[in-house]
Amino acid sequence: MASKSPILIVLLFLSSILLLHSSLADADDGITKIELGHSLSPKGNQSSSWLSSSGHFAFGFYPHAQGYGYAVGIWLLGEPDITLVWTANRNDPPLPSSSTLLLTIDGLVLQQGQKITNNVTGASMASMLDSGNFVIYDDSHVVVWQSFDHPTDIILGGQNLTAANRLVSSLSKTDHSTGLFYLIMQESDSNLVAYPLKTLPYAEDHYWDEIDNATTGSVQLSLNTEGFLCLREHQCFVNNTNLLRNSNSQKQNTTSIYRATFDFDGVFRLYEHQFDGEGNRRPFSVEIRWEAMHDKCQINGFCGFNSYCSNTNMCHCYPGFVPISNNGMFLECKLNYSKDERQSNPDPSSLYDVTLLEHMSWSDFPYLVTKETTMEACEESCKEDCDCGGALYANNGGICSIYRLPLRYGRKVPNASDTATAIFKVPYHSGFLINQTHLDPDSHVVVDNKRSLILILSSSLGSVTLLCVIIAVSVFFNYRHHVYSYAKLSASSNLGFTKECSLRSFSFDELVEATSGFTEEIGRGSYGAVYEGTITGDGSNKSVAVKRLERIADDEGEREFRAEVTAIARTHHRNLVKLVGYCIEGSRKLLVYEYVSNGCLANLLFKGKNHHHHHHDQALPWKERIKIALDVARGVQYLHEECGVRIVHCNLKPQNILIDEAWTAKISDFGLARLLKQPQQPEFLTDDEVRSSYLAPEWKNEASPSLSSCSSPLVSVKVDIYSYGVVVLEIVCRRRSIDVNVKCPEEVLLSSWVYQCYAEGELRKLVVNESEEEDTDWKTLERMVKVGLWCVQDDPSLRPSMKNVILMLEGWKPIPTPPSPLAST
Ligand SMILES: *[C@@H]1O[C@H](CO)[C@@H](O)[C@H](O)[C@H]1NC(C)=O
Ligand SMILES: *[C@@H]1O[C@H](CO)[C@@H](O)[C@H](O)[C@H]1NC(C)=O
Ligand SMILES: *[C@@H]1O[C@H](CO)[C@@H](O)[C@H](O)[C@H]1NC(C)=O
Ligand SMILES: *[C@@H]1O[C@H](CO)[C@@H](O)[C@H](O)[C@H]1NC(C)=O
Ligand SMILES: *[C@@H]1O[C@H](CO)[C@@H](O)[C@H](O)[C@H]1NC(C)=O
Ligand SMILES: *[C@@H]1O[C@H](CO)[C@@H](O)[C@H](O)[C@H]1NC(C)=O
Ligand SMILES: *[C@@H]1O[C@H](CO)[C@@H](O)[C@H](O)[C@H]1NC(C)=O
Ligand SMILES: *[C@@H]1O[C@H](CO)[C@@H](O)[C@H](O)[C@H]1NC(C)=O
Ligand SMILES: *[C@@H]1O[C@H](CO)[C@@H](O)[C@H](O)[C@H]1NC(C)=O
Ligand SMILES: *[C@@H]1O[C@H](CO)[C@@H](O)[C@H](O)[C@H]1NC(C)=O
Ligand SMILES: *[C@@H]1O[C@H](CO)[C@@H](O)[C@H](O)[C@H]1NC(C)=O
Repeated sequence: MASKSPILIVLLFLSSILLLHSSLADADDGITKIELGHSLSPKGNQSSSWLSSSGHFAFGFYPHAQGYGYAVGIWLLGEPDITLVWTANRNDPPLPSSSTLLLTIDGLVLQQGQKITNNVTGASMASMLDSGNFVIYDDSHVVVWQSFDHPTDIILGGQNLTAANRLVSSLSKTDHSTGLFYLIMQESDSNLVAYPLKTLPYAEDHYWDEIDNATTGSVQLSLNTEGFLCLREHQCFVNNTNLLRNSNSQKQNTTSIYRATFDFDGVFRLYEHQFDGEGNRRPFSVEIRWEAMHDKCQINGFCGFNSYCSNTNMCHCYPGFVPISNNGMFLECKLNYSKDERQSNPDPSSLYDVTLLEHMSWSDFPYLVTKETTMEACEESCKEDCDCGGALYANNGGICSIYRLPLRYGRKVPNASDTATAIFKVPYHSGFLINQTHLDPDSHVVVDNKRSLILILSSSLGSVTLLCVIIAVSVFFNYRHHVYSYAKLSASSNLGFTKECSLRSFSFDELVEATSGFTEEIGRGSYGAVYEGTITGDGSNKSVAVKRLERIADDEGEREFRAEVTAIARTHHRNLVKLVGYCIEGSRKLLVYEYVSNGCLANLLFKGKNHHHHHHDQALPWKERIKIALDVARGVQYLHEECGVRIVHCNLKPQNILIDEAWTAKISDFGLARLLKQPQQPEFLTDDEVRSSYLAPEWKNEASPSLSSCSSPLVSVKVDIYSYGVVVLEIVCRRRSIDVNVKCPEEVLLSSWVYQCYAEGELRKLVVNESEEEDTDWKTLERMVKVGLWCVQDDPSLRPSMKNVILMLEGWKPIPTPPSPLAST
């Protein structure tokens, strides 16, 4: 709306300039030559642009999208609108009409001193070429700067997009500041891939790609003058077979200019501007010849947080959410109630109604997935989990996926076979009712109203809950009196117990049988040995890891043991190892965990390190390592910051981080430190002397007895942050935090050595001799190193929270330069 007027102004303005300009243009051999000292100004008696000799392209000042002032760029003349093909400093505020742009020996410089062309020295001449490339030459006619090397959101015929650059979409059709999506030529796999702007280039966030079919040689995206888009010479994904031409193209004596634009809506499109042969500077047609995708709902990030895309390419808030910003397509929504009120109530599930939205598909990653469950169980697990922002239930396979807020990448696909039902909880105590106004009119909203909820509660749920209580009580007493017949008695009701309370109580004999008499020891940790076993339930065999706790105080610990175990079992997170059940018989205490197949991170990181077989340890490529660091951070964040109950792990280290078959990292042994009642130093951690390197220095300080046990209320989450920092540095460097088999003494202590390398700008030293050195992503490495160094600060108050660790690792938050980890005292 407001954008129309500046365009009109520029047109009037341009037509007047054109007349003026043709006389001023220093045309020579079809190339406009711009000498040192030539200048432009948006107003006054100087010209405001330099034209190419064909007159199709112009470089200069154009009216800024904000409705006042000017910006500098290159555009293709057109009717009614000009088409901007390059912009200088796209996010800068508008320039005043008194601005002057001057060609100097240091390139194009604004009178105010800002440079339009960076890093130019020795310029002697410039030219606006007919290809749309603005080029600056030195004395010997060598190109020192060209606009083709600095694309914004467009490439023109003859231009290439290399891995050094990326196209970033504009905010809107008329506002050319940075928008919401980016398109890159990935160096790692040579694919051309589109992502939402606020994400790192990880596969899970991408929404479009063009895959390179070759494996060697450098690759770039190029657009040729016939409108072919190619990744390599003979690999054009837009060519004669799919370039949509109409009969107009057959017209004689026309010339065409092609441009490939990464449009503001995140779609990559090819446009053709056709000009007749009569020297007319304006095209007689501008048409789309190809587009990467037609369904905008497939674009991750097309709709903002907590909103979903419907098949009409519109965004809508989810039930229970209200809009906070609406930037055209990008609708962002927030909860219509505060999250705090949810945490104060002891029984969160009593607070909510459930609202369903059918035919949904979410491409984001859930934090918890349960298979072979029912819709009701799925609703219930979302209601009682204060982290659940929404759940998705797929009938096919009974898969219940639970997501945290904000909800991203949702779309409604009415006719697709792989969609599912989305479940939202909405508070009913506030009289919240679903009002269709913010919902998509074609959605089928189903509301479980209060009455049916109460019905469900009083029938199924109520009885199940009661059953659980009865079983729990009877189990307790049965064990007390060593009545082992319990196992048989409750075998049938045990199924219900397992499902609803999700924690199963085992007899010692059952576990002896499950582990074949504790024969398969798969590990020995700070709390005792771990055995592999198989349990049978629901007619299927399930692999488990059984941990025999050895250093737990006996006697009066039993009640507390149950309480702690129940607290552990309440945690549901994909980055935490799930507790399946437990056994307590007198002094025998065992925990039964899900079996995590790929072993612990320590084995993956340090295995082979001592053997100097550098070519064999390709087990952990970079991408996996940053993912593991993030997985662990998310798990720790859940323990620290979510759900009211705070769990300090106290014993985070690579031996406690397990990797499952999908390479998801899962933290184990959390919540156990509180079970240890020894009132001494945390000696339980010193299984070998190296372990203590994960301990925060305030723990090692013997003068603070209050910190002697993890169950002390004074133990701060910062001890885990310290351990996490050590783990991150170990992940980066693939060595233990203390290693005496190094070349020189300063390398022994990892954190000091990393800091030394960081301070000297020698991060390369950290990954020397690693087989993956070529694919090391240096930006990510630096980010991990900086985060790691902040976490291992001696001063606990300097260590960031887990939430900030995640934001910094993901690149949402800038990371300040870390100080030396050693306290300056
Ligand atoms: C613009 O023109 C006026 C007179 O026409 C002249 O005095 C002035 O110096 C000119 N300005 C520039 C920057 O050339
Ligand atoms: C300028 O050039 C120097 C050295 O060639 C380089 O390190 C720097 O990154 C360049 N800056 C920009 C903005 O291109
Ligand atoms: C684009 O790539 C081609 C092939 O490598 C090369 O010949 C051409 O000069 C490049 N164009 C620009 C503007 O760098
Ligand atoms: C890549 O695709 C092009 C065009 O389809 C084909 O000519 C070429 O052989 C392919 N290269 C490889 C390595 O498959
Ligand atoms: C032309 O495009 C089609 C469709 O993308 C592709 O299959 C074919 O390999 C391309 N041909 C060349 C020579 O690149
Ligand atoms: C094409 O242009 C040439 C001169 O530029 C002219 O002689 C010829 O008639 C034109 N052809 C058509 C079909 O317009
Ligand atoms: C938000 O909640 C209030 C009550 O808490 C309710 O009156 C209002 O209608 C809700 N808004 C929407 C858009 O659902
Ligand atoms: C989806 O299915 C309905 C009926 O099953 C049909 O009317 C509609 O046209 C279909 N929509 C699409 C996009 O295929
Ligand atoms: C939705 O809310 C508006 C006002 O907020 C009200 O007029 C309308 O009746 C409501 N619709 C339903 C279906 O409750
Ligand atoms: C479970 O394991 C037992 C013993 O290995 C075997 O007899 C039984 O068939 C298995 N059951 C299933 C469902 O795989
Ligand atoms: C790296 O490996 C090479 C041989 O693979 C070896 O000669 C060299 O000493 C190693 N460098 C370091 C720093 O370990």
